[in-house]
Amino acid sequence: MERTDLRAATRAAVRPATPRQRAARAASNGGEPTLEFAGRVPYDAYVQASTLHRLQTPLSDDPGEMSFLMVSQIMELYFGLTCHELREAQRLLRADRIWDALAPLRRAALHLEGLNAAWHGLRWMTPADFNRFRNLLGEGSGFQSAMYRHLEFLLGLRDEALIRPFRRQTEVYAELRAALAAPSLWDDVVALLARHGHDLPAELLDRDVTGEHQPHPAVEAAWVRIYDEQAGPDNHLRLLGEALTEVAEQFGDWRWNHIKAVQRTMGAKVGSGGSAGLAWLQRSMARVVFPELWSARTAM
Ligand code: HEM
Repeated sequence: MERTDLRAATRAAVRPATPRQRAARAASNGGEPTLEFAGRVPYDAYVQASTLHRLQTPLSDDPGEMSFLMVSQIMELYFGLTCHELREAQRLLRADRIWDALAPLRRAALHLEGLNAAWHGLRWMTPADFNRFRNLLGEGSGFQSAMYRHLEFLLGLRDEALIRPFRRQTEVYAELRAALAAPSLWDDVVALLARHGHDLPAELLDRDVTGEHQPHPAVEAAWVRIYDEQAGPDNHLRLLGEALTEVAEQFGDWRWNHIKAVQRTMGAKVGSGGSAGLAWLQRSMARVVFPELWSARTAM
């Protein structure tokens, strides 16, 4: 079903109500919640909770495996939600609505904080606990998360080779290709700085966005100037810089937490995704999100 048809069907199932109808229902219920429904309860029509709770197929009888599986699913949802917010921030920045873009960026940072809190659910796991079901995961690895790649691409971390695993999943692959062909949030920010009078070279503004942005001294100099200017609510670019810093820091925390979880549960063993494990992850983590926002701080 198309998204618009789905929305119409869900709206009909939830049955929108006016404040007056709500008040009338509460008055006739005498303070108690409504207990009778003709069909599916509206909460389920909206949240699809009964579907969500059927999406777990553990591969073993080990009681600990469910937290590994569900924490992974929870993180997937957070990856998707964060992508949603970053795309909204891009849309607003392209329209020069810097102040408005701060709200989705703040939401993105808070969702990433929630994502990071989800790691607590795995901190009980020793290598022996993990080994009880690890072999059953075969070659399955979070490395194959398409939504994580979307998130990386939006943040400007772009390695085309990492979408190869999806070549035989046509729809997923097409979406990743489209994401690579579109500017990252950082590309949009750089373009915005140029529109706001910062002197940035054409090679940056017309670059091939499928590759990773290379840190540039002109972008760094722009941020130094922005942060040098009067601090306050009128300096929207500086507020934007801080909002982006928060997003980058929270994302960095996820990567760090992941590395600690790997160390805790499998040490330096090779990964199920075929990599060297810890050493590969450490190299991957060395790629910096919004690099000039960090390097500029040395010159401030
Ligand atoms: C204790 C549990 C975990 C272990 C031992 C672990 C292990 C690993 C390893 C070794 C890699 C490198 C690729 C490979 O498999 O060879 C990797 C990559 C990855 N894992 Fe995990 N992982 C764990 C939990 C999670 C969870 C809960 C998620 C959330 C979905 C996740 C998402 C990812 C992602 C996105 C990558 C790619 C990172 C990058 O490209 O830099 N992992 N993991």
